[in-house]
Amino acid sequence: MEKAIEFHHVYYTDGPTEIIRGLSGSIAKGKITTLVGPSGAGKTTLFRLCNGLISPTKGDILIEGKSIQSYEPTLLRRKIGLALQSATMLSGTVFKNLSLPKEIIGERLTKDEANTLLSSVSLKPSLLKKNVKELSGGERQKLSIARTLINRPKILLLDEITSSLDRISKQEIEELIVRINKEFNVTIIWITHNLRQATQIGDEAWVMMNGELLESGNSNLLFNPQTEQVRRFVKGEFQ
Ligand SMILES: Nc1ncnc2c1ncn2[C@@H]1O[C@H](COP(=O)(O)OP(=O)(O)OP(=O)(O)O)[C@@H](O)[C@H]1O
Ligand SMILES: [Mg+2]
Repeated sequence: MEKAIEFHHVYYTDGPTEIIRGLSGSIAKGKITTLVGPSGAGKTTLFRLCNGLISPTKGDILIEGKSIQSYEPTLLRRKIGLALQSATMLSGTVFKNLSLPKEIIGERLTKDEANTLLSSVSLKPSLLKKNVKELSGGERQKLSIARTLINRPKILLLDEITSSLDRISKQEIEELIVRINKEFNVTIIWITHNLRQATQIGDEAWVMMNGELLESGNSNLLFNPQTEQVRRFVKGEFQ
């Protein structure tokens, strides 16, 4: 198995609190891995470690075989896209929001590029002039994903991006994730509280609790956990 990310005994401590506790494991390249676990398990913290917003207190993270500490921060953020549930937008048009990642690095986004990006997330070109305030929750998330695609990331980190959406929008985003994974050959890690989503969309699953990785492997593991803790967690969540 080729590895996109490797964690080697990673710790992250904030003051007296150990948030990530000696986590080791690897994320398969080109696959969709879902990251599940109870609230406070450290899932979002792991994402922040992966794109360099915070650094491990101990241990190391390898991105495509190279220590995360050897990457230049802007290069790291181009390689690893991050989309959040809140999908933070600037006030203004869709085009303005889509241009943002390029403007940060002093480049411009052309209309053609913008249209290609929109169509890659199944949004109509006519949306470009619209104010982001007028977008639906689903459209907002698609725009947020389009924005991460600008830098042609190798790895996409998606943090609960469907949790506030209705069933139809959820399904559309699920289809989009699978399509992006295949078309652009992007490794995807997806935090979700929805275990149906985790088993259906994920090739692999990681279960985290208390800052530790308890189980990982083919996402079918969620139907047949090996540890009592995960069994209890899964039982509560599938209901
Ligand atoms: N900057 C911080 N300072 C102190 N504690 C923090 C910080 N960030 C996160 N934590 C704590 O670390 C633990 C893990 O938080 P994290 O947000 O990673 O969990 P999560 O698995 O993403 O949870 P959720 O499913 O609710 O999003 C929590 O107990 C949280 O309160
Ligand atoms: Mg979180």
